[in-house]
Amino acid sequence: MKKDKTHIHWYPGHIAKAERKLKEQLSLVDAVIEVVDARLPLSSGYKDITRLLGQKPRLILLNKSDLVDKNELKIWIEKLRDKFNAPVIVSDAKNSKDLNQIVKKAVELSEPRIQEIMKKGLLRRPARVMVVGMPNVGKSSIINKLTKSSKTKIGAKAGVTRQQQWVRINPQLDLLDTPGIIPMKQEDQEVAIKLAFVNSVSENAYSNELVAQDLIEILNEKYPKELRDYYKIEGGNVTLEKIAVARNWLVSGGNPDIERTSVYILRDFREGKIGKFILD
Ligand code: G4P
Repeated sequence: MKKDKTHIHWYPGHIAKAERKLKEQLSLVDAVIEVVDARLPLSSGYKDITRLLGQKPRLILLNKSDLVDKNELKIWIEKLRDKFNAPVIVSDAKNSKDLNQIVKKAVELSEPRIQEIMKKGLLRRPARVMVVGMPNVGKSSIINKLTKSSKTKIGAKAGVTRQQQWVRINPQLDLLDTPGIIPMKQEDQEVAIKLAFVNSVSENAYSNELVAQDLIEILNEKYPKELRDYYKIEGGNVTLEKIAVARNWLVSGGNPDIERTSVYILRDFREGKIGKFILD
């Protein structure tokens, strides 16, 4: 990827504020469910999460698994387990098969903290967990899925900036009903560009054309057949120009409409139309 060419802009002021809010939310919970986008198992995780969480246990949810190849994903599950020494569960918003597993694991991860509380002479209470992750990875979808069966709002517990609402998922588990948003802080342009592919970066922060060009470059390298087949392009590397011509996305004078083509390619990729890809 041409790191010097595409530049994703980010704003330090927003980041400091977002981190403060996240830290406050984290102080209320026993364990964390970190949602990552299965298309970017590493890049959509938070590089600083260990610093942020300290000793707090974490469950990694590889969400949007419907958009990736299942065999490739299996390899990544093992990689993440080894790398982070944390449990990994695969999920997808349209499927509820993973719910029991998530709830069970969240309770299990919280147990050491509950035991500590009980050692201090306090009564057992349900585990408290929250969902964190980058923008657009599917945090709200997961919270909805978890709370759908049990809409018992159990009311507010004091947080510093505002009252935090909890939902009782079952007698052993309370879930914070607002997700923790991991602030977009990517000095690493390569990672930032990948996050733009999956719509985790505000559209104001980049040019569609440059990001689409980087996407095509990666797909040419990793998934050339799927890319060529989807846009019906024969032989050689696929380019924005070739796609524009193949699809007849032209401007007056018959030149390729690169801006429109870029928007469409990003949309096709995000909807999983080109294929089921993991880009890390
Ligand atoms: P966030 O809270 O982390 O920001 O993410 P959110 O749950 O709002 O999900 C972001 C987008 O990703 C939504 O699409 C949502 O439907 C979609 N999504 C969430 N989980 C999955 C999944 O497992 N698979 C797939 N394919 N998509 C998922 P949207 O287009 O923004 O909204 P909508 O039109 O789908 O409602």
